[in-house]
Amino acid sequence: MKIFKLKEELKSYLNSQDKDKITSFVPTMGALHDGHLSLILNAKKNSDLVICSIFVNPTQFNNLKDLEEYPRTPNRDIKALSDINCDVVYLPEISDLYRTNEKVKQYQYNGLDTYMEGKGRPGHFDGVATIIEKLFMIVRPNKAYFGQKDLQQLQIIKHITKQLNFETEIVGVSTKRESSGLAMSSRNKRLSSSDLEKATLIYKTLLFIKENAYKNSVKELKETCIQKFNEEPEIHLEYLEIVSLDNLHPIDMYKHNGCNAACIAASISSVRLIDNIIF
Ligand code: PAF
Repeated sequence: MKIFKLKEELKSYLNSQDKDKITSFVPTMGALHDGHLSLILNAKKNSDLVICSIFVNPTQFNNLKDLEEYPRTPNRDIKALSDINCDVVYLPEISDLYRTNEKVKQYQYNGLDTYMEGKGRPGHFDGVATIIEKLFMIVRPNKAYFGQKDLQQLQIIKHITKQLNFETEIVGVSTKRESSGLAMSSRNKRLSSSDLEKATLIYKTLLFIKENAYKNSVKELKETCIQKFNEEPEIHLEYLEIVSLDNLHPIDMYKHNGCNAACIAASISSVRLIDNIIF
């Protein structure tokens, strides 16, 4: 497995490769878990060269504490990637990607950012889009893989990829879960075992929504589910939205099967978790 710390070295390596090779890219912020590894394994099935980047992107964090506390496990990550035969890892320092005091670019998301993460984390998606544009300019992949756990991020990345005229195909991969149903996330590392138990309410609620949709109105179902969170004082519900999958706007009436999503953000012991289900 090749490891690059500098974009110029990565670019010249990629330039030296056979132009017919299908390249797949998996951008990550490290602290890799089975969810990330499943992105790499999916990428490997459909390509000749898989590149993974590990970079905790400072511009997408809304607060310094969250950025500082974000888990960093580079040596374990490199071992895990090499064990599953990832071809290339790019592990840059901030200075390889950002100039001193560089500001994020502002993008147009056609309303995809109006609710949920876009509303609760102002500037977050401009940070994500800025780093994705920079990384795509370096790697120029044929395909790029992202987890469906970050559904709004996935839809926004599909949108900006088209807007910026990248020819990269964006592939969404279904969420990997613990046996408890909890979505795998690097942030789970910051939860105690009792917090991990409490966090299962998130996926249980999403399943409840999928099972009870169409039988109840959107309004009734939302109210019942919000009440479940209100009964658990140690979980702070930030939002629970039932949205249309195409524009991520809250709906009053269900769309066709497969065109709706329920999305939740909640914090436990100050650790913010998100998850969703499509139905
Ligand atoms: O999903 C993530 O880990 C990050 O938001 C991403 C896509 C790697 C951009 O920093």
